[in-house]
Amino acid sequence: MKDPVIVVDQVEKRFGEQRVLNGVSLTVAAGETVAVLGRSGTGKSVLLKTIIALMDPDRGAVRVFGQDLHALGEHARLKARAGIGYVFQGAALFDSLNVLENVGFPLYQLRLPEDEIRRQVLDRLEMVGLGDAIDKVPSELSGGMQKRVGLARAIIGEPRLILYDEPTTGLDPLTTDVINQIILRLRRKLGVTSVVVTHDIRSAFTIADRIIMLDQGRIVIQGTPEQIERSDNRWVQQFVHGRTLDVDSSGSSRQRIVVPGPVRALPPDTDRHSPS
Ligand SMILES: Nc1ncnc2c1ncn2[C@@H]1O[C@H](COP(=O)(O)OP(=O)(O)OP(=O)(O)O)[C@@H](O)[C@H]1O
Ligand SMILES: [Mg+2]
Repeated sequence: MKDPVIVVDQVEKRFGEQRVLNGVSLTVAAGETVAVLGRSGTGKSVLLKTIIALMDPDRGAVRVFGQDLHALGEHARLKARAGIGYVFQGAALFDSLNVLENVGFPLYQLRLPEDEIRRQVLDRLEMVGLGDAIDKVPSELSGGMQKRVGLARAIIGEPRLILYDEPTTGLDPLTTDVINQIILRLRRKLGVTSVVVTHDIRSAFTIADRIIMLDQGRIVIQGTPEQIERSDNRWVQQFVHGRTLDVDSSGSSRQRIVVPGPVRALPPDTDRHSPS
C-alpha cells in the first residue's frame, strides 16, 4: 500500500484554557477525498492549519508526504507548502493586487515568464468561471467571486494535496456544484488528495470518499457517505438531516445531546448495498 499523504497522530491543541483539538488521529490516503463536518467552533479550521503547519500542535505529531513540517525551519516549511494548495475560509486575497497577481502569486515567486503566468492563471480562472475577472481587484468582486479566486489560487501550482476550508459556504447552488465538480475532477484526472471542511452536507456526500465528524475537538464518527447516512447515531442523524440541536438560554450552541466518546469507525462491509 502507498504511504498515506497525511498522518495526524493524537494531536492536541489548546488556546489558553480552551482545548480545541483533543487527541485527533486521522490518516488520509493518496488520492482520497475526506470531508470534515462539524459544528461552528469545533476545531475544523484549526485542524487544517495544524496539518499545513500554520499552527503547531501542543502534543502529538503530523506528517504530510512523510515529512514533519513542524520540525522544519521557516524557509523549508515554505518550500514544503508549495506542493499543497490551501483554500482559506475567508478568501484571504491581497487587496492591493489584482486577480492575475493574486492567483499567480506562487508563479511570480518562481519567476515564470509573464505570458506563461497569465496563461496558467486564465486557465484556473476559467475553471471557476471567472475568466473575465483577471484584471479586476478584489474590491470589485462579490464575496462569492473572491472565494472562487481563492480556490483558483489554491490549484495554480498543480498541488498534489489540497486543503479546502469551506469552499462553498455562501455560494449559490449552481456555483457550489461547479466547485464540487472541480474537486471531483482534480481527484479523477490528477489523483489529488483532498481534505474538505464543509458545512454543506450535500457537498460532502457528493465529493467525499470518507466523512469525518468532529465535535469538541474529537472525531466522533467516520465512514463512507453511505455509512454516515445510515448511521443510527442520533447526533449524526441530527447533523446530517438538519434538525436543530438544543441551544441553551445563554445563546451558546453547546449541545445537550450526548456525543459518544471514542472514535467509532464503522465496519467497512456493513452497508454498501443500495436501499432499493
Ligand atoms: N489563533 C487563535 N487564537 C485563539 N483561539 C483560537 C485561534 N484560532 C481558533 N481559536 C479558537 O478555537 C476554536 C475552534 O476554531 P476553528 O476556527 O477551528 O472553528 P471551526 O470549527 O473552523 O468553526 P467554523 O465552522 O465557524 O469555521 C474556536 O473557539 C476559536 O475561537
Ligand atoms: Mg472554520
